[in-house]
Amino acid sequence: MQRTRITVFDTTLRDGEQSPGCSMNVQEKLRLAHQLDRLGVDVIEAGFPIASEGDFAAVQAIAATVSRPTIAGLARACPLDIERAWQALKHAARPRIHVFLATSDIHLKHKLRIPRQQCLEQAAEGVSLAKSFCEDVEFSPEDATRTDPDFLCQVLEAVVAAGATTLNIPDTVGYTTPWEFGELIRTIRKKVKGIEKATISAHCHDDLGLAAANSLAAIAAGARQVECTINGIGERAGNASLEEIVMAMRVRQDHLAYDTNVLSEQLYPTSQLLSEITGVAVQPNKAIIGRNAFAHEAGIHQDGMLKNPLTYEIMTPQSVGVPDSKLVLGKHSGRHALGIRCEQLGFHFERQDLDRVYRRFVLLADKIKRVEDHHLLELLSETQAPPSKPQPAYTDTAPLARAATVNTALRDGSQHPGTPFPGAISRNLKSPVLPLNSMAEHHSDPEDYLWGV
Ligand code: KIV
Ligand code: ZN
Repeated sequence: MQRTRITVFDTTLRDGEQSPGCSMNVQEKLRLAHQLDRLGVDVIEAGFPIASEGDFAAVQAIAATVSRPTIAGLARACPLDIERAWQALKHAARPRIHVFLATSDIHLKHKLRIPRQQCLEQAAEGVSLAKSFCEDVEFSPEDATRTDPDFLCQVLEAVVAAGATTLNIPDTVGYTTPWEFGELIRTIRKKVKGIEKATISAHCHDDLGLAAANSLAAIAAGARQVECTINGIGERAGNASLEEIVMAMRVRQDHLAYDTNVLSEQLYPTSQLLSEITGVAVQPNKAIIGRNAFAHEAGIHQDGMLKNPLTYEIMTPQSVGVPDSKLVLGKHSGRHALGIRCEQLGFHFERQDLDRVYRRFVLLADKIKRVEDHHLLELLSETQAPPSKPQPAYTDTAPLARAATVNTALRDGSQHPGTPFPGAISRNLKSPVLPLNSMAEHHSDPEDYLWGV
């Protein structure tokens, strides 16, 4: 069956970064942007250049070094913002200016204090100015789902006439429902003159836990771009989660005849990298990438899983990149295995950097025998990140670790009792802190050769 291609617009670095505790510096944003590129997203919203010097520098650095996806920068519908966004984006291989202006009466009256007519003009002028710099211009009527639909269509018509190529419909406050949002998209398609020249996009927030469902409803109604974030991070309850939307389309192909360019095996590594950078853990029961997403504790479930995993699993852990627990890391492991596991966790090292991590790894493996993912993440964050950040996916509750352990044993025919699922951690397993400059005495290059790496 021919499946319709959906553009995945990732806003982890912009809307996601706006969530408490998730701010990132330029280097961290650059690292994540390269991983988003590996993941296969079509558009990376790299930041809001007028917001700060750091945001400007991050957008500029990403625009200069990440060339496959489109790089977008956010701007309010005013000349200063739009010019600043263009300054940050102008060296991108595929730049996009994303202009936004609130359109709901509640925002116009209480926040912007402007009448509808001024809003209409300002939106069109903003898009015209952006278009004078850049062919690819997106417009978002903020709080669209609480905007009078007739006025919304009027604004959308004006910005399409001014040259907008993507019309993004934000459910800014996470208020809509799938049925209502689908209907709104259909109304826009029917009423806005010139709509066929633009791509309709959905941007949903999760205040009622409906962001992924609303995004899918918009797609079913004709939206062809979806805006989302890794781990669903974002303002308040967050944005629609990229992994949930992508995997819903993949797992339910029978019902959702859509496709994306996302490499699903990169979902878990990307999620882990974001958690490691921000220090914000993924909730254990989070769909797709939470540490319990593939864990089975109840006896009936375990019995079914042992007989056939299809009884309780609608996708395999491997399909979303959960590392294969058969690759046991211990003191006999070499750089190759370590490098692969680091990549599965979202860390890509040049040889020299891998050597540095490897020396610390060997010291650790000598002490604790078997190095689990959480030990490795801790070691990597001690090497790279400020030590004050908490570990991702950290728990001190035994039942969770136990549930996760069952999963590993079920999947790994060789049964490793006591092996926690990737991400599970208990305080007493915490790895010893090692000095940054310690040198391991063994496992030199020739020895790696002996170990077949
Ligand atoms: O939620 C929202 O309305 C936004 C816009 C800037 C697109 O993030
Ligand atoms: Zn938003």
